Amino acid sequence: MKKLVLVAGARPNFMKIAPILRATDNHEDLQAILVHTGQHYDENMSEAFFSDLGIKKPDYHLEVGSGTHAVQTAKIMVGFEEVCLREKPDMVVVVGDVNSTIAAGLVAKKLSVKLAHIEAGLRSRDRRMPEEINRLATDAISDIFFTTEDSGTQNLLAEGHPQESIFFVGHVMIDNLFYQLRKINDKNAVTPFARSLKERLSKVEKYLCMTLHRPSNVDDKVVLTEILKTVNDVAMEVPVVFPCHPRTRHRIEEFGLEKLFSENGTSSTSDQCGLIITDPLSYNDFLYIWKGCSVVLTDSGGLQEETTALGVPCLTLRMNTERPITVEVGTNILVGNDMKKLRLEIAKAIDGNRKHGYVPDLWDGSASERIVRHILRHL
Ligand code: UD1
Repeated sequence: MKKLVLVAGARPNFMKIAPILRATDNHEDLQAILVHTGQHYDENMSEAFFSDLGIKKPDYHLEVGSGTHAVQTAKIMVGFEEVCLREKPDMVVVVGDVNSTIAAGLVAKKLSVKLAHIEAGLRSRDRRMPEEINRLATDAISDIFFTTEDSGTQNLLAEGHPQESIFFVGHVMIDNLFYQLRKINDKNAVTPFARSLKERLSKVEKYLCMTLHRPSNVDDKVVLTEILKTVNDVAMEVPVVFPCHPRTRHRIEEFGLEKLFSENGTSSTSDQCGLIITDPLSYNDFLYIWKGCSVVLTDSGGLQEETTALGVPCLTLRMNTERPITVEVGTNILVGNDMKKLRLEIAKAIDGNRKHGYVPDLWDGSASERIVRHILRHL
């Protein structure tokens, strides 16, 4: 029996861990211990995802909470070292690029435990992004790498990692997306709130969805104000659903930008139109809403890929992307913080003059199974 410790901490980790746990269940010779670091802790940033995605209760919860990068990373390391000393795993598996990823990776390697990185090799080449530092540092110390697109493989080779340690397997997040899509056909898998929102949106032909949480977009008052003003204008014509991340909500309050919106959270007096601001939505609720929209506006990494997988147009409010396949073959367009370009591309998507794409190689729902088979061979 081989023992894996799987680490999840922040919202985008949960979608990647769920299918890996399901795949390990199919192998009797593998035991999977789940550690939740507690980097994200609000009910709608954490528990709601565990429940929607069918993730088991974590075997360990480190409850680290928020803090500066140093505080958060250090707290995770202290808690995770205790887990590793107690469990003595054969391998630690980390996903993505959040603080929990690098913190757990460092602990594993300092204890000479094998480390696997899922979604390895992605590079934005923008070292101002905390995630880019996490990606570079995690890949520098990992033993085996699972890549989602060829750019990841090529980056790792260029950084000197041996070919035999790199496996192009497709994308666990897309495994999860296809799995959850089947689930939301059952109306009970979404909340009454999401159903009534969809009902309201069904009265208009077209609507948009937006997510926004990157420090580069929301921590700068001028940038955030420009984005919200632009989207607010668009929302006068076509409704925009905007589940608001806690970081963004705090900044809107701090910068006094609530006055852009009316008290009921929408910016228009019309029943249908307006910027519809909600709390963060659970995975199923948000999928249920965005899969039918005309275009997604986002600065998330994961949504760039999920929209490509479902053929939904996506406008990314970033100067660069570590996921270039979504632009090369998918439906993604980078608009940076060029508001003229954003308006133009929104207008094109609404008029039906949208970007088409195709689904990248191996984004077929079976990446987790491939990963588990490679891990077993490696161990
Ligand atoms: C983190 C990840 C980012 C990921 C994002 C998804 C890092 C460096 N960043 O950024 O890659 O895209 O998660 O959400 O790991 N907060 C709450 N409740 C929560 C969590 C956070 O109120 O459950 C608030 C706190 O004020 C916190 C702030 O949001 O200080 C930011 O949270 P944090 O986890 O530090 O970073 P994210 O912006 O969420």
